[in-house]
Amino acid sequence: MARAPGSALRRAALLVLATLGTAVIATTNPGIVARITQKGLDYACQQGVAVLQKELEKIKIPDFSGTFKIKHLGKGKYSFYSMVIRGFQLPSSQIKLAPSKGLDLSMRNANVKISGKWKARKKFIKTSGNFDLSVEGVSSSTPSAPSLPGLVQGRAPESSPGTLGKPHACFHMSISRWLIQLFHKKIESSIRKTMSSKICQVVTSSVSSKLQSYLKTLRVTTKIDQVAGINYSLVAPLTAMADSLDGQLKGEFYNVAQPSPAPFGPPALAFPPDHERMVYLGFSDYFFNTAGLVYQQAGVLHLTVTDDMIPKGSKFRLTTTFLGALIPQVAKMFPNMTVQLNIWASSPPHLTMLPTGLVFTPALETQAFAVLPNSSLAPLFVLHLSTNVSVEVGATSDRLVGKLRLDRLLLELKHSDVGPFSVEVLQAIMNYVLPTIAIPKINERLQKGFPLPLPANVQLFNLVLQSHQNFLLLGADVHYS
Ligand SMILES: *[C@@H]1O[C@H](CO)[C@@H](O)[C@H](O)[C@H]1NC(C)=O
Ligand SMILES: *[C@@H]1O[C@H](CO)[C@@H](O)[C@H](O)[C@H]1NC(C)=O
Ligand SMILES: *[C@@H]1O[C@H](CO)[C@@H](O)[C@H](O)[C@H]1NC(C)=O
Ligand SMILES: *[C@@H]1O[C@H](CO)[C@@H](O)[C@H](O)[C@H]1NC(C)=O
Repeated sequence: MARAPGSALRRAALLVLATLGTAVIATTNPGIVARITQKGLDYACQQGVAVLQKELEKIKIPDFSGTFKIKHLGKGKYSFYSMVIRGFQLPSSQIKLAPSKGLDLSMRNANVKISGKWKARKKFIKTSGNFDLSVEGVSSSTPSAPSLPGLVQGRAPESSPGTLGKPHACFHMSISRWLIQLFHKKIESSIRKTMSSKICQVVTSSVSSKLQSYLKTLRVTTKIDQVAGINYSLVAPLTAMADSLDGQLKGEFYNVAQPSPAPFGPPALAFPPDHERMVYLGFSDYFFNTAGLVYQQAGVLHLTVTDDMIPKGSKFRLTTTFLGALIPQVAKMFPNMTVQLNIWASSPPHLTMLPTGLVFTPALETQAFAVLPNSSLAPLFVLHLSTNVSVEVGATSDRLVGKLRLDRLLLELKHSDVGPFSVEVLQAIMNYVLPTIAIPKINERLQKGFPLPLPANVQLFNLVLQSHQNFLLLGADVHYS
């Protein structure tokens, strides 16, 4: 509602985003919960206001003219022209949470400084001059359709069903006293009318179109390599809580060639009430386990190890001569040949998250072959490897990274083509091959990382990571550049 100029309460309220509150309940748990705290909203407001201020300073004020009447002298003409905005101040803007409604953007004591030229004429008397004036803003609004679901779910740009409450602004101004005395009400109402409609246009277009297109830079599905993409779509509208704005994201990896639902669902996340950082991202084990599933099913968790990958000076060799010292049949059946190991994940690797840390126990299989002189492979044996792997998850300014370290390896002979032998004789060579060849290959990929769900030009710093039951919590402050 527009308030009368001079009202004690000078503020512009604009409901930017809201949800249907209790009416919306996501049917499944999200794979990721994204939380923006009041500290984050304060920073967003600061950034938004800086942009808005620049936009407002670009407003062109049309010339205007009219007639005036002076006692005893009669009517004259005046015009105002070459008006430019010298400054726009939105000194106390704030974004506040309106639980179950949305966000409340308030702008108090906005003021604009204008300078320009004026001239007035009454018969033979001509007078002109420059003027400066400041207009103090008073505006408020009521929201009409307060939800912007299309905005953040990243639908096609043409469908933007989100509408905003149109701010109705009105202005109270103080012009140099002499000018007021001369032209008072006419100038005031004329400038007020022009400015309020222009400001409405700028604020509405900045908030609805610029903010929308900015948030669309958050790519909701991102292809991250030949195999996989990450789905960061919102699964429910953003929800304003008492002290945070929460988004529930799908948070899952999918196979880019043939997306299919995972045979397991995301767990419920008991989010802690932390609010020291601007944003928090809770990554459920579902997020990581869909990654394991997608890569394992695509058959890429597979590594071939050959003798030329073993460092020259190593005491371990992948040859039938070396293996023959441990398993004599190998040297007898396949004298003086190299050996190839094919290692793969026999089931989707599963990561468990606990308040005490992460537990990762991928199951691997290894098939050993002798490489015949004509390059054919002759199978030697198949091993099952149970592992205990330490996982270190970290984050950079825009990516999630990881690092594995093999803690324990347990071998089991599944099949032998060279007769029975005791599997313990292979412990030392496997203890060598996995950490020196296989794990570094995996870490190379994990260190490249995976993109975080952030819109363009946003980077994280002051990162903090905590392990919780079923999820990993990343807290960070935000820098927008
Ligand atoms: C991403 O998730 C959304 C919400 O569940 C779904 O509608 C969409 O089809 C998913 N996209 C892909 C590529 O899996
Ligand atoms: C083993 O093979 C290599 C090349 O394949 C050959 O140079 C070498 O003489 C062979 N050694 C024996 C003992 O046969
Ligand atoms: C390679 O040599 C082995 C044994 O000498 C033989 O059984 C096999 O058929 C050969 N493979 C090819 C592709 O020639
Ligand atoms: C891995 O660690 C878990 C728990 O710490 C333990 O129960 C399991 O036996 C370990 N497995 C291996 C192969 O060491």
